[in-house]
Amino acid sequence: LEAIVTDLPVIDYDAHPAFAGLRSASYEANAKVDALTEEIDAGYSRIAADIFETEQDCVDMFDREVAPKIEKIASLLEGAPGLNPAFAPHAARAVRTAATSMREDLNARQRHASARNSAMAELSAAQTEQLNALRQDGFYKFLPNDALARRVLALTAIDRALLRRRAKKSPKRHCAVALHPRSAAARLLKQALESNGVAAVASAYMGKPMEFLYASLDYAHPRQDWYKGCYDDVGLPTSKTVYMHFDADCDVLKAMMYLKDVTGGDGPFSFVRGSHLWDRSPFVMAVQKGLDREQCGMFAMEDDGLDYKLGYYRPLYHDARHRVDILSLPKTLRGTTHFGDDVLDGSEFSNVLLSGEEVFTGAAGTLVMFDGSRGVHRGSLVDGGSRWAVQLAFRAKRDSASAAAPTWKRMLRPVFHQLHYAAHTIRNLAWLIAG
Ligand SMILES: [Fe+2]
Repeated sequence: LEAIVTDLPVIDYDAHPAFAGLRSASYEANAKVDALTEEIDAGYSRIAADIFETEQDCVDMFDREVAPKIEKIASLLEGAPGLNPAFAPHAARAVRTAATSMREDLNARQRHASARNSAMAELSAAQTEQLNALRQDGFYKFLPNDALARRVLALTAIDRALLRRRAKKSPKRHCAVALHPRSAAARLLKQALESNGVAAVASAYMGKPMEFLYASLDYAHPRQDWYKGCYDDVGLPTSKTVYMHFDADCDVLKAMMYLKDVTGGDGPFSFVRGSHLWDRSPFVMAVQKGLDREQCGMFAMEDDGLDYKLGYYRPLYHDARHRVDILSLPKTLRGTTHFGDDVLDGSEFSNVLLSGEEVFTGAAGTLVMFDGSRGVHRGSLVDGGSRWAVQLAFRAKRDSASAAAPTWKRMLRPVFHQLHYAAHTIRNLAWLIAG
């Protein structure tokens, strides 16, 4: 399969039936944008491969050589006659956001360049094998730790009651909650992942010291439909590759742990083997992340920020009026990190994705670590069953701001955190009792 696909396939929205007959704007800057995109990617890759004296030198180089070209595209879009005047500012902002995230990404690379070798230093033979598999496939499935799953299940009784309540109240929506960092479950997970060597493999894969960032409890159940029916209005069924996506975050490595046994109908997590290695344009990916983020400002969201009021999770694509906006973008920049719903069943791209898709069913305690920002994956699409899982994230270690803080602040911080957690628990309990 690796031999067939070396480039990340691109969705041809002009040929997509839900976009057929929509007035494609007479946008004439395509060639200009393509040429600039090529220059931006080349400049970015050059800087990424270089080692600079300081982080500032790296950022300066980006601001001198790459950022002005990105700004050129942003201003092209602002003045583009074919772009809906209500959408143009969002498109321009998505492009400018891309500059910010590319700059941050280079900065982070530079910051950790010196740590590269030390992160590799102390792996056991088993961990080296895990690392190699992760590099080759984009994921690694660890042996199930049943005892850990059972303890986490017990420690999250209140959170699970909350989610079950939420599932009853808003059955169609996402059903997830971040575990409070001071909670016994989150602390147990952090400690377990650090002591069993999973965090060390994450560090070695990312080439920089990684730390536990968060654990999010996810309840997937059959009544959810936030991912279904994007193109219902034109009678196009939900695609077989629905919800296949990249994560929008950078410098993060994720893992999924099942709290109960997961079989085929329970919404198992899956990953398209090797897709993390597919070639792509860093700039286009960054713009697509920016466009995804713009949706949050364009469409009303539920209070918890998990769903849009209209239900479906990619509103720009759901409403035919906005599909025109997508078409009016330069061809190269169209698209989204959550592209699976737009892949046509039976197409070559669909076949490549589905035939490479590794589906992880498994016993409680099964843990799959994966490169979610580079590799195509999905999960929680339940078919009759249900799934209790925790999504775990590792982030590149940051210099702790607390080290510089005065002693009294450092001593009081854990107390504040504990009080915050107590208040959080009381609020949840009150909500459960009152509800
Ligand atoms: Fe994801």
